[in-house]
Amino acid sequence: MGRAGELVLLVLAAGKGTRMRSRQPKMLHPVCGRPMLLHVTALGRGLGAKRCIVVLGSGQEELRGALAHEPVEIVVQSEQLGTGHALLQAREALQGHRGPVLIVHGDQPLYRTSTLETLLDVFRSRSADLALLVGELPDPTGYGRILRGPDGRIDRIVEETEASPEVRALREVNLGIYVAEAAFLFKTLSRVADRNEKREYFLTDIVELALEAGHRVETASLEDLSEGLGVNDRADLARAEAVLRRRIAEHWMTQGVTLVDPERTYLDADIEIGPDSVLEPGCRLRAGTRIGAGCRIEPNVVIDASSIGDNVLIKPHCFIEQARVGDGCIIGPSAHLRPNTQLEDGVRIGNFVEVKNSRLGRGTKADHLAYIGDADIGEHVTIGCGAITVNYDGQKKSRTVIGDGSFVGCNANLIAPVKLEANAYVAAGSTITQDVPGGALAVGRARQRNVEGWRQRRFGKRDAD
Ligand code: UD1
Ligand code: CA
Repeated sequence: MGRAGELVLLVLAAGKGTRMRSRQPKMLHPVCGRPMLLHVTALGRGLGAKRCIVVLGSGQEELRGALAHEPVEIVVQSEQLGTGHALLQAREALQGHRGPVLIVHGDQPLYRTSTLETLLDVFRSRSADLALLVGELPDPTGYGRILRGPDGRIDRIVEETEASPEVRALREVNLGIYVAEAAFLFKTLSRVADRNEKREYFLTDIVELALEAGHRVETASLEDLSEGLGVNDRADLARAEAVLRRRIAEHWMTQGVTLVDPERTYLDADIEIGPDSVLEPGCRLRAGTRIGAGCRIEPNVVIDASSIGDNVLIKPHCFIEQARVGDGCIIGPSAHLRPNTQLEDGVRIGNFVEVKNSRLGRGTKADHLAYIGDADIGEHVTIGCGAITVNYDGQKKSRTVIGDGSFVGCNANLIAPVKLEANAYVAAGSTITQDVPGGALAVGRARQRNVEGWRQRRFGKRDAD
C-alpha cells in the first residue's frame, strides 16, 4: 500500500452522451463559456497532478481539437462498453505507475480542487485501497446508490437501472470520483463483468469486488452538494451553468467588483475584472475578456474576448467583440465594436456607430451613426454623424487614413483608399475620392441652387393655396 508516488488525474470522457440529443460531443458543451471537459482537466493543474490522462471515444476528433493545447495524454476506448471498460483502456498508460490515480468523469465540471484534496486525504490517511466521494442528494435520480452494511460501512454501489424500489429510495449516491493505486485498480477491474441490464462493464462494481477480496474501501462525503452535479441532459447543463455562474459572481464580488444583480450577470469562467468596476444586469462577459478597474458596464452589454481599460463607461446595449478599448473611453449606447478594433485612451463612440479593424487615436470621437472600417485614425479627430468609410468596392477592402485633429463632416463618404492629412476638414455631405492635404477643406458635393417660384409653376394656383 504505497502512499507515496505521483498523482495522476484520469478523466473518463468516451461516453456517447445520448441524453444530450446533440450532434456535438457532450464534453464540448460549454459551462460558463468553457467546454465541460476543460473544467475537469483544469482540476489536474489545481491539484498539481503529474499527468492527466483522458479516455476518449465518441466524438474523439472534435474533442482532440479542444484538447490540443492542454497538457494531456489521450487513450481511446473504441467501443463504449461502460465506465469500467473505459478505465481499462488506460491500463497500458499506467503500467508500473505507483501513486494515487484520481478518476473523474468528464461530465462533472463543478468540482473544486479542495474537495478532491479532501478525498485524497481520506485515501492516504486511512490507508484505503479505494476511496470514493459520496453525498446525500435531495433528488438522487440517475445516480448509483450507496448500500451500507449494519456497521455503516459501504457494501456496494447499485446503479439506478439495476435498483429495486427500496434501493431507489436511498438518497446517498456515488458522485463518480475515485482514488486508488493503478495496480489495485486493474487487478480488480479485470474481474468486473457485464452481467446487468445495460450489458456494460460498470466501474462501480469494483467496490463490491474490492471488499470481497478483503481490501479497504473508504468514502468521503461531499459538503457542497452542488459540486457533484453530473451533466447528462440539457436540464443538467442549465443547472451546472447556474451553479458556476453564481460561484464566478461571488468570486468577483470578493475581488471588489459590484454586481448590481448577480443572478442576472453572465460571466464566463475565463475573464478578469478590476476592482471598483460595476456591472449592471444583463451583461454577458465572454471568455477571454479583461475589464480594468473603475469601469461601469450598463445593462445588456455583451463583450467577447476583448480588453477594456480602466474607468471606461459602456452604456446599454453595446456589442464588443475581439476589440481593445483604452482607459477612460465612453462607448454606446448601442455601439458595435467588431474584431481588431483598437481605441486609444479617451475615445468616444456613440449610438449606432460600428467600428471594425480600425485604430482610433486618443480623444477621437464618433458620437452618432457612423461606420468606421479598415481605418487608421489619429488623435482628436471628429467623425460627424452619418460619416462612412467606404472600405469595400465589391471586390477588395481598402484603408482610410485620417491625420490628427481632422474633422469629417456629417454624411461624408470617404472612398478608400484615401488619406486625410493632419487637420484636414471634410465638408458635410461630401464624397471624398482624393487625398486631402493637411489643413485643407475638401468639398465634394454638388453646389446648391435655388429655383425661384418652382412650386407654383409645377402645381398651379390651386395647390399653392
Ligand atoms: C455514473 C456512475 C454512477 C454515478 C454517476 C455520477 C457507473 C456505472 N455509474 O453514472 O454510479 O452516480 O456516474 O455522475 O459508473 N464513459 C466512458 N465510456 C463508457 C461509458 C461512460 O468514457 O463506455 C464516461 C462518460 O463519458 C462520462 C462518465 O464515463 O464522463 C460517466 O458515464 P455516464 O454514462 O454519464 O454515467 P452515469 O449514468 O452518469
Ligand atoms: Ca453522467
